[in-house]
This record gives sequence, C-alpha cells and structure tokens, in this order.
Amino acid sequence: MSLELIDGCGRVVEYLRISVTDRCDFRCVYCMTETMKFMPRDDLLSLEEIVDIVRVLIPAGLKKVRITGGEPLLRRNIVNLIASLKALGSLQEIALTTNGSHLAAYAVALRQAGLDSINISLDSLRPDRFREITRFGYLPDVLEGLVAARKAGIARLRINAVIMRGRNDDEVVDLAKFADLHGCDMVYIEEMPLGDITEHDRQVQYVSSDEVLDLLQQQSGPWLASSFITGGPARYFQHAETGQKIGVISPHSHNFCDTCNRVRLSAEGRLYLCLGHEHALDLRAVLREQGASAILPAVQQALSFKPRRHEFDLAQPVTLRRTMNMTGG
Ligand code: 5AD
Ligand code: SF4
Repeated sequence: MSLELIDGCGRVVEYLRISVTDRCDFRCVYCMTETMKFMPRDDLLSLEEIVDIVRVLIPAGLKKVRITGGEPLLRRNIVNLIASLKALGSLQEIALTTNGSHLAAYAVALRQAGLDSINISLDSLRPDRFREITRFGYLPDVLEGLVAARKAGIARLRINAVIMRGRNDDEVVDLAKFADLHGCDMVYIEEMPLGDITEHDRQVQYVSSDEVLDLLQQQSGPWLASSFITGGPARYFQHAETGQKIGVISPHSHNFCDTCNRVRLSAEGRLYLCLGHEHALDLRAVLREQGASAILPAVQQALSFKPRRHEFDLAQPVTLRRTMNMTGG
C-alpha cells in the first residue's frame, strides 16, 4: 500500500486539525447557542491516542498539526500533549487556536513544550462588545494572554476576527493597527453556516472579504496581494509601506477548496474530511478495536471520499448541525 495521504481529487493532505475538547468558556454568537450541551468527558480521545494517530500519519506525509477546540487550554495536560507531539520529531509546525482567556498562564509552558504558532480569536477591541459577541469573555484576559505569548517568544502570532455587519465591521482598521502594534498577523473571516444558531441571521450580518479589503484600502492602504502562505485557507495581503500582513478567509466569496490540504479530528475521535460535510470516519473505534496499525489504511480509504468542496449557502436553512467547537477551526 502506498504511504501517501492523497484524496480522491488528487489533493495531498498534510495538515491535521485536532480538537481536544468541545468545551469552551465562551459562547461566541456565531459559534454556538447560549445553552450549548457538551459531550461527556468519557467520550474524548485520550491524549495518548491523539499522539498515536499523529505518529502513524507522519511517515505518510503529515507535516502540520493544529490543536484546537472548543477551547484547547481547558483540556487537562494540554502542555504535555504539545511536548509529546514535538518529541515525535518530524512535524514542521505545531500550532494552537485559542480564545486567549487562559493564555497568560500557559504561554511560557507552551513555548517550552515546542509550540510554533498561535491563532487568537479576537473579534472586538471594545470590552462591552467583546463581552456581547463572546457572551462570557473578558477582554483584558485575552489581551494579557496575547502579550504573554509574544513575551514567551512564540514564533508566529495571529489574530482571527469573524466580521459581522453592524457588530464589528467598524473595527476592521483598528484591528489591523492593533495587530501590527503587537507583532501579530491579522486575519478576517467570513462567518460560516455551521450549527443552527438563533442569535442572529447570518445572511443579514454577512460581510464579504472584498468589503473588508475595500475598507482597509480606503482607510489604511495601499495593501498589495502577497504570495505568503501558511498552509491554511487565508489569502494574504501586505502593506506597501509597513510590510504588515493581513489575511482573509472567504468561504463564501472565494472558495478555497481546490487547494484544501487538511482534515479534522474531533474531540471524540471522528475524522471529518471537510468542514462543510457530515461524512466522518470513527477513528477512535478503528484504534480501539483494531489497533494503531489499522489507522493509516482506514484514513487512506476515508480520504477517497473527501468531498470536492463545501456547499455553504447562507440563503438556505442550516444543514450542518455540527458547530465549529466540535471539529475545531
Ligand atoms: N464561522 C466562521 N468562523 C467561526 N469560528 C467559529 N465559528 C465560526 C463560524 N460559524 C472561528 C472562531 C475562531 C476560529 C477557530 O473559527 O472565531 O477564530
Ligand atoms: Fe469558544 Fe471559539 Fe466557539 Fe468562541 S468560537 S465559543 S471561543 S470555540
């Protein structure tokens, strides 16, 4: 059997996003409802099982992993997981996506464990708005976390903001300035129809990446298209004078599925082949019933079913009940 991770469309998969918990101390309005129910802890993959899966996939071409959630820093022994992944030796990048609420306490340990990069979700720089969007978030904690990560020497920091009309679209330029000041890249995300949230109408609050770019060009340009890539779906632009980089993730306005190189492992061990489809492989069952040697063939077979693209359509009722915290961003 060939060793590679190649899907049915010929795309090479080299990036695994691993959700280590579906729990979160925030309830962001675009991500989940206020009454979100989380899975029983007993259903989680153990950290050892996660390492087993990554270990098997590295010789087949896995190069990058991202630890995500829910809020990954809520998972016990998360620093040990990073250290164990680092000890495997051959990953080019170990990344983390976090809401930043507990980052201040973990930054130094994460760096020492070998973490290369962190994406911090930050949708507003105004404490009252930040609280409204996250429902439970306290902005100073996140800012403290960001500064601590920078001080700890994490090589690459990035801020992610989901831009929503009438909520934070007037902060696009402020966010870019803030990111620049703190040595972070800035990425703006179009909201995706994951999970049947009721708090707002996603179609009404939709702001396209082109609108975001127009705002930036008008108020702080010139921004030029950049060839910078990180192995994710963002398209990057660089400021002609300052060299600052900003990116946009445009699931609606610029489909990025042609170059998709990733799959997602949920907290209970389901391997999702596409963020926009329910199809998944129960990798936990494969591992527990057949052992580690069965992982690679099962993943390769599942990859042949990886969908060509997502079919997100804000005009249609939500068909994906799964929310972002189940599979991770
Ligand atoms: N659409 C777009 N982005 C989302 N995120 C969570 N839910 C959604 C959604 N429905 C973002 C978070 C985080 C990243 C992992 O995904 O803000 O930055
Ligand atoms: Fe938590 Fe991230 Fe979802 Fe916000 S977007 S509720 S921080 S998992």
